[in-house]
Amino acid sequence: MCGIMGYVGHRNVVSMLVDGLRRLEYRGYDSAGIAYFEEGEIEVKRSVGKLSSLEEILPPLPPDSPSGIGHTRWATHGKPSEENAHPHRSGSLVLVHNGIIENYISLKKGLLEEGHEFVSDTDTEVVVHLIDSIYQRGGSLETAVKNALVQMHGSYAICVLSEKDPERMIAVRSGCPLVIGLGKDECFVASDIPAFLSHTREVVYLEDGEIALLSAKGLEVLDFKGARLSKESQKISWNPVMAEKGGYRHFLQKEIHEQPRAIVDTIRGRVAQEEGEVILGAAEINEAVVKRCKRVVLVGCGTSWHAALVGKFLLEEIAGLPVEVDIASEFRYRDPHLSSEDLVIGISQSGETADTLAAIREAKSKNTPTLSICNVVGSSISRETDTVFYTHAGPEISVASTKAFTTQLTALTLLAIHLGRRRAVLSKEKAQEMIHHLILLPKQIEEILRHEARIEDIAKRYFRYRDFLYLARGLLYPVALEGALKLKEISYIHAEGYPAGEMKHGPIALIDENMPVVILATKDKVYGKVISNVMEVKARGGMIISFAEEGDTDLASISDEIFFIPKVSPSLSPILMTIPLQMLAYHISVTRGTDVDQPRNLAKSVTVE
Ligand code: AGP
Repeated sequence: MCGIMGYVGHRNVVSMLVDGLRRLEYRGYDSAGIAYFEEGEIEVKRSVGKLSSLEEILPPLPPDSPSGIGHTRWATHGKPSEENAHPHRSGSLVLVHNGIIENYISLKKGLLEEGHEFVSDTDTEVVVHLIDSIYQRGGSLETAVKNALVQMHGSYAICVLSEKDPERMIAVRSGCPLVIGLGKDECFVASDIPAFLSHTREVVYLEDGEIALLSAKGLEVLDFKGARLSKESQKISWNPVMAEKGGYRHFLQKEIHEQPRAIVDTIRGRVAQEEGEVILGAAEINEAVVKRCKRVVLVGCGTSWHAALVGKFLLEEIAGLPVEVDIASEFRYRDPHLSSEDLVIGISQSGETADTLAAIREAKSKNTPTLSICNVVGSSISRETDTVFYTHAGPEISVASTKAFTTQLTALTLLAIHLGRRRAVLSKEKAQEMIHHLILLPKQIEEILRHEARIEDIAKRYFRYRDFLYLARGLLYPVALEGALKLKEISYIHAEGYPAGEMKHGPIALIDENMPVVILATKDKVYGKVISNVMEVKARGGMIISFAEEGDTDLASISDEIFFIPKVSPSLSPILMTIPLQMLAYHISVTRGTDVDQPRNLAKSVTVE
């Protein structure tokens, strides 16, 4: 997620901008820049990497500047580079942006025909040229912004400055957060409160479809039609550390709650529901590769390996492709039989996991087509595979992976639908139905998140146990593995995920009154088998904590604890079922007092073997 910072007022603008951007660093970024006035002209300074690199190119004696804007960029379109860093300029305007403009390519085409020249491959640069192309025809900046907005499709937050009016800034919110800080003879605008919390606690939250006109004298807010809106300010009581987490106690909790938006952003611009099609865009797989492909091999580590296990079910069932799954560290050393008729897909949130990278290199050494599903633009794996399918989960700060996992599953579902259609094994009607269910998912996740207190209650009853078993069958078996991994990595409780059908082959020896057993079940073809497994556990004194579809009174009647998820199509049940398990691990960890965001011995990205 990019970070926007704007300031207009009497203080030293350059230091206000840099300080604000520093407080947004937790959002993750790969380049940064600011724009400010010097002797009546706008100066733009940008650099790749951290703020320290930007500070090296700033003037030692910052000039008097009535206003300025700054940005930390988390690359989505265009690799991390100075040219792609914000602010972007056109004529007398400079602009910073957070979000995705879906129709930027067609807008850019029109602007090129008008003679506009571009130096970057970002959607942001298109926005500032679009506004400028209207502004140059006369009229106020406010009008130019309003007329540009109606042409833009996507989700964005922008802030724009004009050399002709240095005392004012215009900010717009449409799908990405923006907050205004009101000070004494000064105004702030930022993607998040921490950017200015040390200067003012009086905040106005912009809503989608609102335009803010900021000056040192104060704030005016309009809707997109230009009607003035009255907005209440709020006093923020958070301390700066809490503010970075958006009021949540930990990044992990914040990221669990970000999953609806992360899934919306991952789907955005990739589905044509009417046509029953999934558009891969930059992730497009070469036609010859699709035609030749006889097998997919999915590789990953940890949570990403769990995503691969779900991906196997999805690609086999929806795309009709045989799929093999391998833990990347095993794959790279077993001299796998690969050919040009395979497609190796590396799944990695960070894109820097050494074993997954090595697995991709192994595939490439055997001339096998490769694709990666990754969350970090410009990461190693995204550069080394033939194509890359980005999840737009935004930076995942907490070591335990949550929104990355559910967006990986979303990406795998989209990929399966896409390949199913291209291989003519998935009907248009079926694809339309699956896309419809996918679009409903974020609201269903929000429904689950609203019952977090129920999970917290369960956590408080079971946090002292030393061993947990997670059991499930079919598509939910990888979710049992993921739920167990979440618990063990943040609460340090020993937890194992197992196919429920394996009980009699060993794990049942573990069952006694000290063993909570987490059961995941939906009313699918193996539901009856799971019920039998539950009875076997109960007969040996094990405690049953069940996660089931709403209305499942049978399983509820034989469980010690029951948590319901909304009814969902089977292929999407792993995404929904994961959410309560993430919350269970989180609340058990909080109750046990472990370091939730930075668990002992773990790194966010395992860049060594
Ligand atoms: C999961 O919560 C862990 N953080 C870990 O298993 C992680 O999934 C694994 O290291 C793979 O990381 P990657 O997705 O960045 O490749």
